[in-house]
Amino acid sequence: MIAPAMNNGMWKAPATQANMATLREHDVHVVGPGSGYLACGDVDTGRMSEPEDIVEAVCEVLNPVQQDLAGKRIVITAGPTHEPIDPVRFIGNRSSGKMGIALAGEAARRGAVVTLVLGPTSLDVPRGVECVHVQTASEMLKAALSAFQTADAAVCAAAVADYTPAAPADHKLKKANERLDRIELVETVDILAELSRQKGDRLVIGFAAETDNVVEYAERKLTRKGCDAIIANDVSRADSGFGTDTNKAWIVSIAGTQELPVLTKPQLADTILDLLQNL
Ligand code: PMT
Repeated sequence: MIAPAMNNGMWKAPATQANMATLREHDVHVVGPGSGYLACGDVDTGRMSEPEDIVEAVCEVLNPVQQDLAGKRIVITAGPTHEPIDPVRFIGNRSSGKMGIALAGEAARRGAVVTLVLGPTSLDVPRGVECVHVQTASEMLKAALSAFQTADAAVCAAAVADYTPAAPADHKLKKANERLDRIELVETVDILAELSRQKGDRLVIGFAAETDNVVEYAERKLTRKGCDAIIANDVSRADSGFGTDTNKAWIVSIAGTQELPVLTKPQLADTILDLLQNL
């Protein structure tokens, strides 16, 4: 495997391109080059691929992932929402986006066409994933419904605000003379329930973030929201839930409940995608 990096003139030269074609004919894998600033100061093609992309390409060659989701379109919601109180303040939550981003990355690796509807986070979007960035629950609803029109399945891992300020101020509220001790809230639309209402014979999987009675509350959510399965996670544990790299979860569906061991979020993502395949 080679990751060529050179000046754009050299890269585009017919001799180089002919040599690259020969290498490909001999089954040499080529990563990049990318585009952007080159060592000589030009902005063009010839830049070495990012190290993460090279590592991923090496892993892909050494251990090819089965493309069992090829041709499937999956919508994934991830991250928190921020509900504005005024231009400075918002109501948010502790979701980092890691769980949903892991789902999007694994689904793309397995060949799916993924639309990730992602609330505010500083994390990177995985390679090959189309991302719609949103801030609020209503923006997330609109983007998820739009992407779901042509999708085969949806997985809702986002921590969506259940309530939003009824009338966000258009200026910074002053604590001296404006009311900040009471903010009138209105309920947001439940995106998971709405996708489940529209799904027909397509599949919709939701999450349940619980601190106690995890399985019991998840079973109630399964019935109330009308989805095909709920991934119940225990967000009271240090190794599970918001911001962690691992998760302790149960798969809750009408077929019954399956307890999973503590898994990394990419491992749990793969298990959820296996569930989608089985369903
Ligand atoms: O992002 P991380 O830091 O990795 O954390 C991962 C996670 C804990 C956020 C994730 O694993 C998780 O549990 N996501 C769901 C969080 C949540 O809001 O749970 P809930 O029990 O309040 O909601 C149940 C389901 O309804 C969820 O699928 C949620 O996306 C959905 N929902 C809720 C309210 C709403 N208005 N619209 C929704 O779609």
